[in-house]
Amino acid sequence: KNVLFVASECTPFIKTGGLGDVVGSLPQALKKHEKMDVRVILPMYDEIPAKWREQMTFQVSFHVPLGWRNQEASLYSLEHNDIIYYFISNDYYFTRKGVYGYYDDGERFIFFCRAVMEAIPHLDFTPEILHGHDWQAGIAVALAKIMQPVEDMKTVFTIHNIKYQGKMPLDMYEEFFNLPNEHLGGLEWNGVINCMKAGLFHSDKITTVSPSYAEEIKYPYFGEGLDPIIHQRSEDVVGVINGIDTDDFNPRKDPYIAVNYRHSRVKKKENKIILQEQLGLPIDGDKPLYVMITRLVEQKGIHLLEPILDQFMQEDVQFVVLGTGDPEFESFFYFAGDRYPEKLVAKLSFDEGLARQLYAAADFFLMPSQFEPCGLSQLIALQYKTVPIVRETGGLKDTVTPFNEITGEGNGFSFTNYNAHDLLSVLRYSLFIYNDTTKWQQLLKNVNKSQFSWKDSAHDYSRIYEQLITEPIKG
Ligand code: GLC
Repeated sequence: KNVLFVASECTPFIKTGGLGDVVGSLPQALKKHEKMDVRVILPMYDEIPAKWREQMTFQVSFHVPLGWRNQEASLYSLEHNDIIYYFISNDYYFTRKGVYGYYDDGERFIFFCRAVMEAIPHLDFTPEILHGHDWQAGIAVALAKIMQPVEDMKTVFTIHNIKYQGKMPLDMYEEFFNLPNEHLGGLEWNGVINCMKAGLFHSDKITTVSPSYAEEIKYPYFGEGLDPIIHQRSEDVVGVINGIDTDDFNPRKDPYIAVNYRHSRVKKKENKIILQEQLGLPIDGDKPLYVMITRLVEQKGIHLLEPILDQFMQEDVQFVVLGTGDPEFESFFYFAGDRYPEKLVAKLSFDEGLARQLYAAADFFLMPSQFEPCGLSQLIALQYKTVPIVRETGGLKDTVTPFNEITGEGNGFSFTNYNAHDLLSVLRYSLFIYNDTTKWQQLLKNVNKSQFSWKDSAHDYSRIYEQLITEPIKG
């Protein structure tokens, strides 16, 4: 099967969040486990390291019609880990700092999607499926249906986060799309052009990154205004849980961490001690260490920590936060670090190496998200034998089962309501279990058994593609 992924980020070239990890690792898993030919097409950002750009080969240049204008685009390609990647370059749209956050992001990704349509005939393979990821690829899914660059090509659209939709004023339709008016309805929602709606409306199949989130987005609390569309298409919506690259996130050979280990708590403690030294915390391998590694945004539940952090800091614990984001949350942690120099360290930066050292050193990984389509960090934490503490939502609910003292089941801790004191009480409960050797050992046994590689999910995607390819044309 030939599948073309259309996405706005992909490791190792460019990443701002979990989307990049998934687009980076799923094609390889599909190749390895399902023998499929999956290729990825991306914008050629300036931010992509020179190391990669030097390896790209120029393929072809072409025009991309955008309303009354013609934009120039060039197609480059590169092979990495057995996967072929394509890049669409255009100086005006992509030779900028960073990835997102420009006033014309809508236009930039309409251009990208339109360019993908022009690029398809020039690729040295014929996609049977076009698989778009998140709003930045929504228009590609829509145009694939409307323009049919390949006869009978099927489409899949994956929602990684329904909160970000790519909205822009209606007059952009005339300005940027060379389409008859009859197609406006499919791209429009609540009086604006909505790229995510366009993808949801036109795709043959909709997936999202966990079964629980697939349910949640049918309702207004999680649906961000698109819940009626999800409802309408609910027969075509499935949740497939993300995996992680267990070769990359592997404490046995992770080059960033001081002492490699498999299950050994002794070696994990050695990592903790080295980290405490490095961060200037009191050195004590037995002190329970809680960490948070996250973008500091509302979604991640930081608001829940604000009212209870001081109470939690009365306990005999250490707490390290790593991440960047909203100034409000950055300063909250910055000042907390000031108040508890012996207990709390806030590293307000993006640091892959330190992130891995924290996963390795910690006893607990905290992720009290308000909503979480899948979440990858809790999976990485489990992979590093660190106990996750999560809120029961989306993928967190599907991957972390609360520890049950009676049955001995469960691989972490969780709480249901978006409530600060519920978080505080689960934090205290986690300490109680930590201090009870028998129960703690039982919990760790379950943690050691948790596995979230891509194998099963790759199989699920492969079946979705298979069904689309063999299914008779609708209507
Ligand atoms: C988004 C979601 C996150 C998910 C990731 C990859 O970043 O917020 O929950 O794990 O996409 O699908």
